[in-house]
Amino acid sequence: MILGLGNDMIDIRRIEATLDRFGDRFVSRVFTAVEQTKSDRRAQRAASYAKRFAAKEACSKALGTGLRRGVYWRDIGVINLASGRPTLELTGGALRHLNSITPPGYEARIDLTLSDDFPWAQAIVIITGLKTGDDR
Ligand SMILES: CC(C)(COP(=O)(O)OP(=O)(O)OC[C@H]1O[C@@H](n2cnc3c(N)ncnc32)[C@H](O)[C@@H]1OP(=O)(O)O)[C@@H](O)C(=O)NCCC(=O)NCCS
Repeated sequence: MILGLGNDMIDIRRIEATLDRFGDRFVSRVFTAVEQTKSDRRAQRAASYAKRFAAKEACSKALGTGLRRGVYWRDIGVINLASGRPTLELTGGALRHLNSITPPGYEARIDLTLSDDFPWAQAIVIITGLKTGDDR
């Protein structure tokens, strides 16, 4: 069953300007260590951060909270599987909220897709409830 759906688009130039203006203060407030390592290695650094920023907003919509109600930016972190496929790791308030929308006997699976085509970056998140023990 679908528990949540969210998307977000952001202008990469907005993130570029924020990186120029606030630098590490912005990066360390919003992005996890894994996201920083990934994006700082990329030639398209601002686009990489923009996709991850969009992923956080998309996930906050899928959770139904927005980035409020105890859900903070770094509670929602993009990780990449060995294949390159992205997914999200939730902690803190975001994880607590995910657990609260997951019915008993179900576990939550989060699917994420990211895309960028300058100046746009986009993310879509689907949260699915799988009966415990079901194949993924
Ligand atoms: C929910 C949130 C992520 C929306 O993102 P946004 O970039 O402001 O706006 P978008 O155009 O992408 O999305 C707006 C739509 O999100 C949807 N939305 C709003 N609140 C939502 C919620 N709690 N759950 C799911 N969807 C929500 C609405 O459909 C809204 O459009 P509508 O008002 O016309 O119906 C945003 O309100 C938020 O929480 N932002 C983070 C907080 C923030 O910016 N703090 C400032 C300090 S950096």
